Parts: sequence; structure tokens; C-alpha cells
Amino acid sequence: MLVGIFPDADALADEAARRVIRTLDAETSPTLGVATGSTPRPLYARLRAAHAAGQFSLEDVPTYALDEYVGLSPAQPQSYRHELLDQLTGPAGTGLREENLHTPHALADDPWREAQRYDALVGGAHVTIQILGIGENGHVGFNEPGGSLASRSHVSALTESTRHANARFFDDDVSAVPELSITQGLSTIALAECLILLATGTAKARAIRELVEGPVSAHWPATALQWHQDLVVLVDEDAASELEFAHDLREQWAAARHRH
Ligand code: PGA
Repeated sequence: MLVGIFPDADALADEAARRVIRTLDAETSPTLGVATGSTPRPLYARLRAAHAAGQFSLEDVPTYALDEYVGLSPAQPQSYRHELLDQLTGPAGTGLREENLHTPHALADDPWREAQRYDALVGGAHVTIQILGIGENGHVGFNEPGGSLASRSHVSALTESTRHANARFFDDDVSAVPELSITQGLSTIALAECLILLATGTAKARAIRELVEGPVSAHWPATALQWHQDLVVLVDEDAASELEFAHDLREQWAAARHRH
């Protein structure tokens, strides 16, 4: 694991965009894993700007979402498919074509079967780089505390903490937040060649401390990713504020810059 600590969200997004573009450029047939939530939006803005400048395109890049709410139609703005289409496709987008954006089918008759189908799809895709956020409770995708650290894609019940955190996308109405999601499992996520996890703000500081320095534990699902061989964690100073080893991590980051 390599941890980069940045003065603010803009500097972090610049570095994330640089890494995503460079990693995809280095592959002949790249595939991309994308996350939703507010944290990756500045990164997506930079990918759109790079596309507008003719420096980058997702035109031929199959792209896979981490998760989706069960029961929300893609026409609803809170649906992750809707959000990703908004962020990545269209004339001012990244070149991504709608048919190349894969998301779990939120309206499938049998969400459990759909989770299996999606798992096989992502498992066969050899994702080049997976963009990740992290929940205040340490979730990644909708892998909530107490779940298996070795899970494959599955139907997951959102915790109360997550439903409260996400209520801001539903006019602050917690009761409107779906109770179930289909999420890539932690083992499925770990199949990606590179993982890049972004976190900003003090609300994420505890989760980042556990991810970076804590024991691997179902209390903090993201800690399962400590075993991944190419995990880059990019945080701002606020999200880094509880790290005990911040000084050492900065030195490791500086040393790694000579390689990258
Ligand atoms: P956020 O969500 O980027 O909106 O904070 C992250 C997550 O819950 O995984």
C-alpha cells in the first residue's frame, strides 16, 4: 500500500487523474472500475477536461460500476447508473459510450441472481484500475461492517449509518434511501490489477486510520484491501489527520515518486 497525503481535494484529484490516465494508457486493452459518491467527482471532472483537450478517451474502455441500489430505475438521479452516465458520457464527457458502462441491473426480478451474473462479468473483465471511495464506517462499495472479507458480489443491506450518510442525495429523507444494494464483493474488487482509493474530510479520518494502520477486521471492511499488491490511497490532510505514521508515509510516498 502506498499512501499519498495532499493539501486539499483539488491536489488529490489532480494526482488521481494523472494516475488513472497513465495506468489506462499503459494497457493495450484497458478496462476501468468506477465508484460513485461525491469524492470521485473532481477526478471525473479532470477526466472530462482531459478528454476535451484531446488527451484522453474512454471510448473503447469497458467500464464497470462497483455497486447499485436495488429497485431504483436508471431514470432516477440517485441511481448509480444515472450518476455515472452523467459524469462520464455525453458530448462533454470522457468519450465513454453508454453501452460500455456496466452496472448491476437495479430492477432485476431476482437481485441475488443478478449479483452472480455481475460478479461473473466483472471477474472476467480483468479490470486494469478500480477507483474506490470509502464510507465513514469503512465500507467499500456496499460491503458493510460485519460482512465477509472474502465476499464475491452479493446483495447487501445498507447499514443505518450508510443510509444516513446517503440521505443527502435523497433530499435528506433517510426513508427514501433504498435498503438493499448489489455490490461487488471485496474479493471481486481485489481482482483489479490496481486499486486507487480516495478520501477527503475529517469524517473519513477514522476509516482511513483503520484502513492504513489498523488490523484486518470485519469492523472495517476496507482493511481487507491491505492484502492487495497495488493499492494506492490518496487522502487530503483532513482525512489523514488520525494517521499515527503520517510522517513515515510521506517519506515512503516521496521515495516512490522516484519510481513513478
Ligand atoms: P462519498 O461516499 O464519496 O460520497 O463520501 C463514499 C462511500 O460511501 O463509499
